[in-house]
Amino acid sequence: MRTASGKRTKAENIYLPVSGRIEEIRKKTEDVSLFRVSTASPLRYTPGQFFMVSVWGAGEVPISTASLCEDDLFVEFCVRKAGTVTGAIHSLQEGDRLWLRGPYGNGFAVGRRANGDVLLVAGGIGIAPLRPIIQMFAKDGSAGSVTLLYGSKGPQDVVFMDEVQVWRSGGIDVILTVDRANCDWRGSAGLVTDLWHRARVDFSRATAYICGPEIMIKSVMRDLSLFGMPDERIITTLEAHMKCGVGKCGHCYSGPKYICTDGPVFSYKEIKEYSLLG
Ligand SMILES: Cc1cc2nc3c(=O)[nH]c(=O)nc-3n(C[C@H](O)[C@H](O)[C@H](O)COP(=O)(O)OP(=O)(O)OC[C@H]3O[C@@H](n4cnc5c(N)ncnc54)[C@H](O)[C@@H]3O)c2cc1C
Ligand code: FES
Repeated sequence: MRTASGKRTKAENIYLPVSGRIEEIRKKTEDVSLFRVSTASPLRYTPGQFFMVSVWGAGEVPISTASLCEDDLFVEFCVRKAGTVTGAIHSLQEGDRLWLRGPYGNGFAVGRRANGDVLLVAGGIGIAPLRPIIQMFAKDGSAGSVTLLYGSKGPQDVVFMDEVQVWRSGGIDVILTVDRANCDWRGSAGLVTDLWHRARVDFSRATAYICGPEIMIKSVMRDLSLFGMPDERIITTLEAHMKCGVGKCGHCYSGPKYICTDGPVFSYKEIKEYSLLG
């Protein structure tokens, strides 16, 4: 649609963000906070999708949805302070505005109830896009068992430590591990891939959802495939440098895929023959 003067209207321009108000900020670790953002118009998004989030004067970055879309009124972003834009997001206060385009990407094709066992594997800030799936299973259950293997650098870096008990009460077997433990730590120490024996899942019938550093994703996908999990049921979400988020600029192009529009969620079957993982 165009105005009488021939200009494009706001609804037509995919690069125009909408304004969001930060309703709540919860500090999770030294460099990670959870931002609850509301917008004037209703929001519809699914786990695994992302928004392009911007702060005037700083720039725009892709950030995954970290909440379940239950009442269309808000979205939560779990943001690690990594550089310029994420630093600017962290400098905002409750009541301040930021800007959103999206939601973009395909998201996880995860139903309210899974047929078989479910294995979630997260590393560091990679827990953010998996949190809505965890919340979904903690609320509605699954036909099989649900195990979360969650690795962090140290005990102080476990992003959603305050939610672990709720997830466990919802029937999820949460196994925490850290690279460097201290004497107060009650979980495991070591890599998530050292803990396969603790996962109470039938690998051949389970579905895995994975997010974390690329090196972790690579080893987890390879191990699960070797254990007999079908490659189409080993699912991950990938990161890339993004500019447009909508398949126009080519910044996220990798192998034959645009991470922003073909992904960011891919199965091992889709990506193992390409160089999408390092
Ligand atoms: C689909 C998608 C979803 C994401 N979801 C989240 C999320 O939920 N929470 C979160 O904290 N972060 C998320 N990220 C990563 C986030 O977008 C980057 O941390 C952010 O773009 C860094 O921008 P900056 O301006 O703060 O840092 P810069 O100043 O641009 O860079 C700081 C450092 O981060 C590196 N970097 C920049 N962008 C990326 C990137 N996309 N991947 C890896 N390294 C990068 C740079 O090379 C540099 O070393 C996601 C990325 C993608 C592609
Ligand atoms: S970010 Fe522009 S094509 Fe993907």
